[in-house]
Amino acid sequence: MPGTVVVGTQWGDEGKAKVIDLLSAQADMVVRYQGGHNAGHTVVVDGVKFAFRLIPSGVLYPGVTVVIGNGVVLDCATLFGELDMLASKGIDTSSLVVSSNAHLIMPWHPILDGLAETARGDQAIGTTKNGIGPCYADKVSRDGLRVQDLLVPSRFRARLAAVLEQKNALLTKVYGQPALDFETIAAEYLGPIATRLAPYIGDSVSVIHAALGSGKTVLFEGAQATFLDIDHGTYPFVTSSNPVAGTACSGAGVGPRDLQRIVGIAKAYVTRVGFGPFPTELLDATGELIVERGAEFGTVTGRRRRPGWFDAVMQRQATRLNSLTEIALTKLDILDPLETIRVCVAYSIDGVRHEHLPSDFSMLERAIPIYEDLPGWQCDTTKARTVEDLPVNAQKYVRFLSRVSGAPIRILGIGPGRDEVMDVPAAWLDNEAASE
Ligand code: GDP
Ligand code: IMO
Ligand code: MG
Repeated sequence: MPGTVVVGTQWGDEGKAKVIDLLSAQADMVVRYQGGHNAGHTVVVDGVKFAFRLIPSGVLYPGVTVVIGNGVVLDCATLFGELDMLASKGIDTSSLVVSSNAHLIMPWHPILDGLAETARGDQAIGTTKNGIGPCYADKVSRDGLRVQDLLVPSRFRARLAAVLEQKNALLTKVYGQPALDFETIAAEYLGPIATRLAPYIGDSVSVIHAALGSGKTVLFEGAQATFLDIDHGTYPFVTSSNPVAGTACSGAGVGPRDLQRIVGIAKAYVTRVGFGPFPTELLDATGELIVERGAEFGTVTGRRRRPGWFDAVMQRQATRLNSLTEIALTKLDILDPLETIRVCVAYSIDGVRHEHLPSDFSMLERAIPIYEDLPGWQCDTTKARTVEDLPVNAQKYVRFLSRVSGAPIRILGIGPGRDEVMDVPAAWLDNEAASE
């Protein structure tokens, strides 16, 4: 699996980190290719929980090199906090490479993120207020400061002076906020931040190609997910980057031919944080049960995640957009007590049946899910370690989702722990398809 991408296929928090952790056991390198500290990636090892926001979770394996790619927006304080957290748990982080081309989150970014959200009023997106959108906006408008600028103080100061003038005009004149002080920012970034970051800064593109060139296995870790994608998600209720698998190319500096395996991560149901359309949303007691059993509260903001039934229309779109070679289905165990489990197989919009996602997402507000009801299994799946150990109705559910998703389910999660996972053999999937 030389170049393998792990990408979320819903609205985030599908369990990407757990699958990265699983695949890291056979990998040499893990690269984050987009997003920033809006991500919250959780791995549980022997009952110890690790919450990552920037560092790829593959760091837990000795010998795995971890890379923060050029496509990431970097909040240095969060990165340092993560390095401290890992050091306190005895994890070696010396392999970390931070791309010299990654953009820096600057002090005005979270401030402007919060102010823009307030200004949007009832049109608010529900961002993490971490400054992700304003940082990517500055990148695209060519007003960003990059990691490499920290190494050339005169350049950093010149760029900061020019950009800060604009930002202070915005803060003071538009929002009536206090101006930010040039010398305070310059001293912090060129002082303690540059000093601590310097040993990690590198030419990530060359590092990645050296690994690929010598036949090493490189994982590309996506953050957020397909329907939070700025182009393909439920705009404007999206993040400001492209989480889709193709971004592994631009966000890490590889070409499409370097990517062989594309693993889409899907929960056995769906959740979303923040506002925006959600056709299969559950606003009832079943939704509450899923939130409670699945501990569906954001790692970053602590917000309750909105729950809903598995949506095969969106999953098929995610399969197309990411060119998935397989799916890892997580959190099947959360559905254990349910009597009936619904799967949305199509939408009815204005009386017309839609098998595919409409390109006009405002239609999703009017989409009535067409469900297939499957019988639940109502017993514990967490002890199962092979698909044959699963109750028959759980087996049927997995096979059904695999059939309607457009890509085979090849990995199945039945708990948060590192060992609470199983392979889904292709022969097992095919077998049942033939017998049903
Ligand atoms: P990510 O952002 O996609 O990496 O996902 P998060 O870490 O934000 O959220 C997934 C949550 O589900 C984490 O708390 C994981 O420990 C947990 N998790 C992952 N896979 C499973 C699973 O198969 N079963 C259960 N019960 N929990 C899981
Ligand atoms: P992981 O990687 C779930 C959501 C926010 C908000 C929208 C825009 O853990 O799956 P932003 O701060 O990015 O401008 O917010 O995107 N969001 C996520 N939701 N998981 C994430 O990351 C998310 N990252 C951003 O809640 O609705
Ligand atoms: Mg998360």
